[in-house]
Amino acid sequence: MYLLLDHKLAIVTGSTQGIGFAISKEFAENNGATVVLCSRSIDKAKRAAARINGKTFSARIDVTSNSSIEEFLAQVLSYHKYIDILVNNAGYPFDKKIWYRKFHELNDTDLQRILEVDTKGSVRLAKAVVSSMLECQRGGVIINISSTPAISGHLNMEAKISELTLLRLEILQRQLHIIL
Ligand SMILES: NC(=O)c1ccc[n+]([C@@H]2O[C@H](COP(=O)([O-])OP(=O)(O)OC[C@H]3O[C@@H](n4cnc5c(N)ncnc54)[C@H](OP(=O)(O)O)[C@@H]3O)[C@@H](O)[C@H]2O)c1
Repeated sequence: MYLLLDHKLAIVTGSTQGIGFAISKEFAENNGATVVLCSRSIDKAKRAAARINGKTFSARIDVTSNSSIEEFLAQVLSYHKYIDILVNNAGYPFDKKIWYRKFHELNDTDLQRILEVDTKGSVRLAKAVVSSMLECQRGGVIINISSTPAISGHLNMEAKISELTLLRLEILQRQLHIIL
């Protein structure tokens, strides 16, 4: 039977639990993709991979660190020659003290912490993955999961959208698709 994502390699960040895990399971079990399960904990990534009945690879990544991203991509690309799909799903952990705070009460430290993961993390990894996608000349897809603060309205995460919109404009004619 032909499956839509047969022979495709998909990286799903923050896939050790929650939405990222559900996306990974769906990609691997029902669509034939090989999925890279990852988060800041390699143990959690391995445990999550063991719960999926399909092709998986586990690795550690911290999207707030360029060196961690480099190390992660080196591992992925030594396992599989190319990357077809990136799902930027990793998000700053749900924290009632931040999420339920009123917009004008948010402090700089909390804002920085969230932006480092949700916004800058997505841009950092997308930049690195796009380089690899362009080099391989196979095209590719990047899907960005909007952050909880953007939806709850407590924080303005438009930065993520605008940075990635620029990316979309830049590479639209180069067989890559960016989904916001
Ligand atoms: N749940 C909702 O109702 C909802 C609604 C709208 C949008 N969202 C968005 O959807 C995404 C997933 O939500 P969720 O509720 O499934 O999240 P979650 O259960 O809190 O899982 C977050 C994942 O991100 C990983 N992570 C956190 N910091 C990271 C970092 N610096 N580098 C790499 N991985 C990191 C976590 O693993 P480690 O801690 O092991 O690193 C975990 O696997 C998030 O971006 C969230 O903002 C969620």
